[in-house]
Amino acid sequence: MSPPDGWDADELARAKRLAARVRAGDDRASGAAQIFAARAPGRVNLIGEHTDYSGLPVLPVAIDRSTIVAAAANAAGEIEVANADPAWSSRRFAIERRIPPYQTGDWANYVKAAIQGVIDRFSARSNWRGASMVVDGRVPPAAGLSSSAALTVSTAMAFMALNELELEPLETATMVARSEWYVGTRAGGMDQAASILGRRDHALFIEFDPLRVRAVKMPANAVLVVADSREIADKSGTVRAEYNRRVVECTLAARILGRALKLDGVTILGDVVRAQPGWNAADLVEKLAAAAPARLDAALKEAANLLGVSQSELDAELLGEGSNRIALDTKRPLEILKRARHVLSETERVIHAAEVLEAGRLDEMGKLMNASHQSLANDFECSTQRLDGIVEYARRGGALGARLTGAGFGGSIVALCDVADADAVIESIDRGYYAKLYPGAAPENWRAVLHAGAGASVIDLRANA
Ligand code: GLA
Repeated sequence: MSPPDGWDADELARAKRLAARVRAGDDRASGAAQIFAARAPGRVNLIGEHTDYSGLPVLPVAIDRSTIVAAAANAAGEIEVANADPAWSSRRFAIERRIPPYQTGDWANYVKAAIQGVIDRFSARSNWRGASMVVDGRVPPAAGLSSSAALTVSTAMAFMALNELELEPLETATMVARSEWYVGTRAGGMDQAASILGRRDHALFIEFDPLRVRAVKMPANAVLVVADSREIADKSGTVRAEYNRRVVECTLAARILGRALKLDGVTILGDVVRAQPGWNAADLVEKLAAAAPARLDAALKEAANLLGVSQSELDAELLGEGSNRIALDTKRPLEILKRARHVLSETERVIHAAEVLEAGRLDEMGKLMNASHQSLANDFECSTQRLDGIVEYARRGGALGARLTGAGFGGSIVALCDVADADAVIESIDRGYYAKLYPGAAPENWRAVLHAGAGASVIDLRANA
């Protein structure tokens, strides 16, 4: 039987090397033990940035760079996890109902997040098989390409396979998306859905609540150049605080708008949109502007007054409690109008983008990507000088459109080009950006043409020996 799409000869060879390490490192897993390998790709988002946690659509592609986890059951009922990259040291932890996290920033917190997610999803089960795992991540970390989702998805799928558990792909995506909250980022569900539901040569139009995916064929002449600004977008620390702040701002915009429009049960902007068929961004932004000041200088206090709820109630609802609580600097004003303007206008662009991409109208797709970048820079304020610079060089080199991709605050850009122009785009980025910032360095590892690849899957290595 041939393995699922995505498992080409190189990926299979990687998995086998990892399996040999699992066997060598753990005598309980030696010999005939069943070994699974889960492979999960990263993603690059074409458009629809910072819309997912508002329950609004996104249009990413899964990329041809993956994380592979090889895993065998161990009798100790523990998780032992080693990393093929010696920079990340091995970890071992017990499977418990509530797994305590390592210190913030520890790579294995994503492993814990995945295991915790599976335990929570199958909470009736108690006799868990432990796992001896070796991880090999080839999605560049902290580059906005979802190396974290590739790790959590592959870990969760390997652990489920060992425990003979199965879920539909959409359910797995929902489970893993929520499990990443464990690390303290209130992220939406795009990355995990893209990693799990990716399809070769296709972009994914993903909608939420409930999660749905429609594959959109990439036109044959379209090429994606992805370039890392090398400004670290590590989702712990400042970037996490800024990200979570945006989540709070968008939630407040939704609540204020819901109240102004007399809608019940609104918690995210997606609820507003779904309750208003025929909506348009300009109109909703106008209504929001009429209902509240553009920015709340007294932060949550002012928000509570506007919403007619107590500040402590709002605080608990928005920031959560206990170890998962969001740390929000309430001395800074909260931007409501600009954030909502980005999310709502971006939603219009995403819907439009899926249509033009499907129709092969790449010029229009490029324009939408440019408009997305501008909105992210001006209204969402998550771009940086370096990202703006690299986007500009991509355009000068002939890209049809270019924008930051992922959460921003550093990380990568994605440029859409006609296949005939890809080399010129890369050259322009190399000369304009890398050669100036990193004179003498070889930029080959920092930018590449990436292809839309297959989504995550698990193989039984004995069956594929
Ligand atoms: C990160 C999150 C995603 C999404 C993007 C921004 O990648 O993990 O859920 O919110 O940022 O679009």
